Amino acid sequence: MSLSFGDIPGAFNAGAPAYDKLVDANPGYHTHLRLSAERMGIPDQGEGLRLLDAGCGTGASTAALLAAAPKAEIVAVDASGGMLAQAAAKAWPSSVRFVESRIEDLARAGVRGPFDGILAAYLVRNLADRDGQLQAFRDLLRPGGILAVHEYSVRDSKIATAVWNAVCVTIIIPSGRLRSGDAGLYTYLRRSVNQFDGAAVFRDRLRSNGFNAVRSETMPGWQRNIVHTFLAQAPR
Ligand SMILES: C[S@@+](CC[C@H](N)C(=O)[O-])C[C@H]1O[C@@H](n2cnc3c(N)ncnc32)[C@H](O)[C@@H]1O
Repeated sequence: MSLSFGDIPGAFNAGAPAYDKLVDANPGYHTHLRLSAERMGIPDQGEGLRLLDAGCGTGASTAALLAAAPKAEIVAVDASGGMLAQAAAKAWPSSVRFVESRIEDLARAGVRGPFDGILAAYLVRNLADRDGQLQAFRDLLRPGGILAVHEYSVRDSKIATAVWNAVCVTIIIPSGRLRSGDAGLYTYLRRSVNQFDGAAVFRDRLRSNGFNAVRSETMPGWQRNIVHTFLAQAPR
């Protein structure tokens, strides 16, 4: 199966029931999301702040934001009703609200800024118009607000590319096929990561879309130089 960008939320619908079991088996998945949320440097446990979890899926990244900012208002958005149903089945405080919408259609779904921070975990690689969406994120942030893009990026390192492809072939694709009955989403994952911007190119992309103070940090574990937090600030 070859997925186009428009098909991706639909493919996540099909993969939703197996998603949590697969990511729970991935060492570091939840810890790394929490690390990205912590790296946003949200002050005062988020008291009085509004945060957006863009592409929240089954709520793993929402839980990471909540841990970093338990007093913030969190709006968590995803285009896949199946992934959101998994998220909504978990226990959340009343400060967390889930919205079904494509990220490109937030205004139509009644979601408006300004936000003090946005976390986009494993989303941006899946978007057809990355530059357009980064500009939309910049416009949704209050001046000085923080965008954290938590994403795979391997092209800057031959070793990271080799490790990524080995992990896909030996673990991610076979276990995805076993748990969900269809490896399409996981072969797409392998290919899309191989094709996504290298870390330096993505940092430049953030700058060219109007962000300041752009930097990135990678993760510990096998995901070193494979998963990164890209941090960027909306202009003041
Ligand atoms: C790999 S999951 C990540 C979920 C969550 N952020 C996490 O870290 O576990 C990517 C999510 O992005 C959603 N997604 C993909 N394209 C989207 C779009 N254009 N608008 C909104 N959500 C989208 C998918 O439905 C899926 O739930």
